[in-house]
Amino acid sequence: MVYIYPMKWQVYHFQDILSTNETAKSFPDHAVIIAQRQNGGKGRYGRVWESPVGNLYLSAVVAGLGQQAPLMAFGAGIAVAEALASFGAGLKWPNDVLIAGKKVAGILLEQTEDGKLIIGIGVNVVSCPTTGMLYQATHLNGQITLSDLADKILSGLDSMISELQTNGFEPIRQKWMRLAVGIDQPIRVRLPHQEIGGVFRNLTPQGELVLETPDKTVQISAGDVFLIKG
Ligand code: BTN
Repeated sequence: MVYIYPMKWQVYHFQDILSTNETAKSFPDHAVIIAQRQNGGKGRYGRVWESPVGNLYLSAVVAGLGQQAPLMAFGAGIAVAEALASFGAGLKWPNDVLIAGKKVAGILLEQTEDGKLIIGIGVNVVSCPTTGMLYQATHLNGQITLSDLADKILSGLDSMISELQTNGFEPIRQKWMRLAVGIDQPIRVRLPHQEIGGVFRNLTPQGELVLETPDKTVQISAGDVFLIKG
């Protein structure tokens, strides 16, 4: 299958690298860094992202999004979930990609001082950690090639960036809601100093999670969500 990139990504392949996100920071707009393995793969909140050979480690450089840049967390989640649609992928706030309730991909957004957005994506294609994870992980059993997966994700990122620039966040918000898991379900959200339980009701126009707790409804802008199975 052929994917057309109106935006034309420039892809650079590396074998061994510390972190594709770190390398990407010194590359220009539209560059994509892909590594076979990372020795210092980074997850959200300074966690380690284990990065053995066989999985996908990709970082895309996007300039010019300005204040909209953080909202690409949701666009990137959609791009990955749609690339994995045939596996039944869904999204857990803000952008963990799940298959059958287990994490198959993670996304780490970083911004450089000169205003570039680095969209770092890790997908468990052939393996995943079995211990030490905050959330149970899964992998794709190698049922897609790394190049097909990268092509699909880049094509999706491209259309999400165009959507955000042309129509703003609302269409992305709506699409994210359709792919989200846990809506109207009880969840727990781990914040830096506390954990709150409630029902996940909505996503605000700023990308915050709307949580209905027994006493009040709160909007959460950062944290780890845990689905509670009924
Ligand atoms: C998370 O769920 O905590 C985010 C994980 C992000 C991992 C990817 S792998 C490619 C890119 N390079 C990194 O060092 N991290 C991201």
